[in-house]
Amino acid sequence: MMMNNSYDAWQISHQDRINKFLKKKLGKKNAQNTIHDATTYTLLNGGKRFRALLTYAIGEIDSTNKNKLDFIAASIEIIHAYSLTHDDLPDMDDDSLRRGLPSCHIKYGTPQAILAGDGLQSLAFEFLTSPTFKIDDGEKINLISQLSKAIGIEGMVFGQSLDMECSNKKINIKLLEKIQRNKTGKLIHAACIMPYTISNFCDTSVQTSISKLSILLGQLYQIIDDILDSTSTSKNLGKTMGKDQEANKATYVSIVGITESKKIKENLYLEIKRLVKKIPGNTQALTHLIHKIYSRDY
Ligand code: IPE
Ligand code: IPE
Ligand code: MG
Ligand code: MG
Ligand code: MG
Repeated sequence: MMMNNSYDAWQISHQDRINKFLKKKLGKKNAQNTIHDATTYTLLNGGKRFRALLTYAIGEIDSTNKNKLDFIAASIEIIHAYSLTHDDLPDMDDDSLRRGLPSCHIKYGTPQAILAGDGLQSLAFEFLTSPTFKIDDGEKINLISQLSKAIGIEGMVFGQSLDMECSNKKINIKLLEKIQRNKTGKLIHAACIMPYTISNFCDTSVQTSISKLSILLGQLYQIIDDILDSTSTSKNLGKTMGKDQEANKATYVSIVGITESKKIKENLYLEIKRLVKKIPGNTQALTHLIHKIYSRDY
């Protein structure tokens, strides 16, 4: 069994791996201009890289080639960075702090931040179609299809649209779950299922377990985000604490309260652990990573 300290080493080396990979690829573009700076700023300045780690941890189950997983992990983190850049804009959540630094629009202005998000979105697909990503064209099309569905108007963007629409409104838990499943859950789901496309996973029941687990993990991820927004500090979070309450956002905390939110969090974690146990293969990194996500405090 992987010990906590060997998992920590795994996590650090894979965070380092994705950061180096992104840096190297962006560095190759070598342009000296505002949009390149704004894009690099938003993508390379920190972030926990939990979504990339999920892709690598799923890959560990059947030892999928890491040089291939890099492209998937990168595309997911690039989309995530775009979503945060747009999420922080004055007409969205209007947040001036991100990853402990001024948000992209504070540093570069709103027009450049909008464009950085747009540029990042297409960059993710540039990565997936890169000639150095040595997989079959059919597999590439599958990946593009999975990612584009996850983030579009039936996925992340849909969730963000509902989120904006529901600020200052009293909504029920069902609608809240729908918002969060889309705005946060779909990208986390993609991070977990895209690796199948390039791996040897042929057991569909395993795929179903991973898919189910990732949906619950998305819910767990966002409920913790909501709890931290109301209980942590801006310094610890690297983003403005108390922003949800200030903007009267629909969150778990605003709808069911903090105690019930924590209960839901515990139950989700138990259910996810139960699902992981059903998966054959090497799930050690995945098990530890899920525990890290559950116990994260920023
Ligand atoms: C924040 O995500 C936005 C959500 C969808 C909850 P993270 O907490 O993973 O942000 P970074 O990448 O570590 O900055
Ligand atoms: C962000 O949710 C979801 C996406 C960016 C798609 P939040 O608005 O809760 O994220 P934070 O709290 O600003 O990181
Ligand atoms: Mg938001
Ligand atoms: Mg926000
Ligand atoms: Mg939040």
